[in-house]
Amino acid sequence: MKLYLDTANVEQIKEINDILRLDGVTTNPKILSKESRDYREVIKEIIEILDDDQLLFMQVLASDHQGMIADAKKILSLRKKNMVPKIPATPEGLKAIKLLSNEGIDTLATAIYSAPQALMAAKNGARYVAPYVSRMDSFTDGVQEVIMLEQTLRNYNMQTEIVAASFRTQEQIRRLIYNGVDSLTLASDFCRKLYEHEGTVSATKEFAEAWRSRFNEDGLNI
Ligand code: E4P
Repeated sequence: MKLYLDTANVEQIKEINDILRLDGVTTNPKILSKESRDYREVIKEIIEILDDDQLLFMQVLASDHQGMIADAKKILSLRKKNMVPKIPATPEGLKAIKLLSNEGIDTLATAIYSAPQALMAAKNGARYVAPYVSRMDSFTDGVQEVIMLEQTLRNYNMQTEIVAASFRTQEQIRRLIYNGVDSLTLASDFCRKLYEHEGTVSATKEFAEAWRSRFNEDGLNI
């Protein structure tokens, strides 16, 4: 299972990247717009924080396939490796994904709203597909659609990786984890909820208090 952080906030990336073995960071134009600094500076800093083997995803802005390809190449030029252009799975985006794949360039097909749409992107050579779980809920059961997508890609023996995105509840994340989803990309708050638990905080407090009251020490002195 791979785990990406869906934010461009460098403080949050540093904090969570220190705690977890993250596989990388995903961004989109809206996520980058939330930061108060220039997006070029923010991307540069994220690249500095990440190890070479961690992926960074950045989305193209053009809406025609030639423009998307040009944007994708600019994005790729920002880093020696593991920089992945995200391309919306519009008809123009699918053209761009196909042409980039012909050149051996990995892309992530984003803004996916159905399993068949993801299948078409995978068939065109997208290395990653990002189904928008919560946003899909306006049309169908988003979690179930992603589970069907996993099965569909495996049925056709496709290696495309599902990066499930766009969550509104922890329950959606749990259901996908229990079903063995390839990867998740999570906003920082949802990511923290994977490992923070009030029960763990109170249990460790209880252990420390027992130790202090019995030995009158705060640590191990051995
Ligand atoms: C991830 O890559 C997507 O851009 C993102 O998760 C979309 O999430 P949202 O529905 O919270 O905007």
